[in-house]
Amino acid sequence: MNVVELTPTALPLSDYKGLDNNSLSQRIAAVKQKLGSKLLILGHHYQQDEVIAHSDLRGDSYQLSKMAADSQDCRAIVFCGVHFMAETADILANRPEKLKARNGERVSVVLPDMAAGCSMADMAAIAQVEKAWQELSEVIDTDDITPVTYINSAASLKAFCGKHGGIVCTSSNAAAVLKWAFAKSKRVFFFPDQHLGRNTALKMGITNDQMPVWDPYADDLGGNNETAYQESRVILWKGHCSVHQMFRASHVEQFRSKIPGVKILVHPECMQEVNDIADISGSTSKIIDTVKKAAPGTKWAIGTELHLVNRLKQEHPEQEIHFLSPVVCMCATMYRIDLAHLCWSLENIANQSVVNRIVVDEDTARWSLIALERMLQVS
Ligand code: 13P
Ligand code: SF4
Repeated sequence: MNVVELTPTALPLSDYKGLDNNSLSQRIAAVKQKLGSKLLILGHHYQQDEVIAHSDLRGDSYQLSKMAADSQDCRAIVFCGVHFMAETADILANRPEKLKARNGERVSVVLPDMAAGCSMADMAAIAQVEKAWQELSEVIDTDDITPVTYINSAASLKAFCGKHGGIVCTSSNAAAVLKWAFAKSKRVFFFPDQHLGRNTALKMGITNDQMPVWDPYADDLGGNNETAYQESRVILWKGHCSVHQMFRASHVEQFRSKIPGVKILVHPECMQEVNDIADISGSTSKIIDTVKKAAPGTKWAIGTELHLVNRLKQEHPEQEIHFLSPVVCMCATMYRIDLAHLCWSLENIANQSVVNRIVVDEDTARWSLIALERMLQVS
């Protein structure tokens, strides 16, 4: 008699949409208990509180990459964050030495909602970056340029950096990465976030007139003349975070006049006009650590995603914490991960019918890994 092995059918998402958070939480806890150390749930600081409550580990982009890279027992990583983060986790958790140690068994990396992307990452497509590189090669020597991609980018851009002697950075190590790049080349091509690139380079003494902005939609040479690139130190990609772009210098001024002694704490994805006048600028983890270490009674106006600022307010009632903008600035794509998607993806893992698996193709993963490993060595 032939034994036919049946592939388990995926459980439909519609079954989870109407469930209340209480029952979803109980079911999530049950899967976590069943899978134990075979499952790792990672949560970025911008996630909703109810999702963070189920995360085994939480962190900024750099820490989450390290956690995925260092994971030992787990066979499934559920990434409560956005697409580029899950791609990075897949590359690092399934790099050749890790696969060999597991006899070829892959870690399944799952993004609970495939629509959780990053609008900034979408502002630089690989075809546009390759075209820019080609056009730049006609006016400057590309051997003199180190491409640096912010981790908020597609894996194909990380692979581009791997192939061209470049590197990945996060908001917590951008200065160290730029220093590394300038030790080996005259110029840096920084994508996709112009603000992180500009704010970091300004602190290193590079001036705005040495940082032309490459507009991928300009008709000719990214919108600048040859001389601008010949005199450049950092070529910035015209990309930004739509959430952090909402914070303005006028918000800082309003808080300073309303609350004497208030300290302004912002993410480096904010524009230069905000970074220049802020008291402190840093990654999500630096923001959290800074508040944690401050004396009771310290007054803050914080310029980063709303969910993180609200959590800081709850966790630090001994301090006075305000959101820097008068309008809501939240990351709509991070917000897509909710308990229904989390429960659905977890129960499908337990059911051996993994859904929303993120797999970076072999060639892209190989080249991306080179750029990611350079970053992990630098910082
Ligand atoms: P962090 O690396 O500071 O966590 O930032 C990630 C991000 O997407 C900020 O918008
Ligand atoms: Fe992307 Fe901005 Fe959301 Fe961060 S906050 S994930 S940069 S859109």
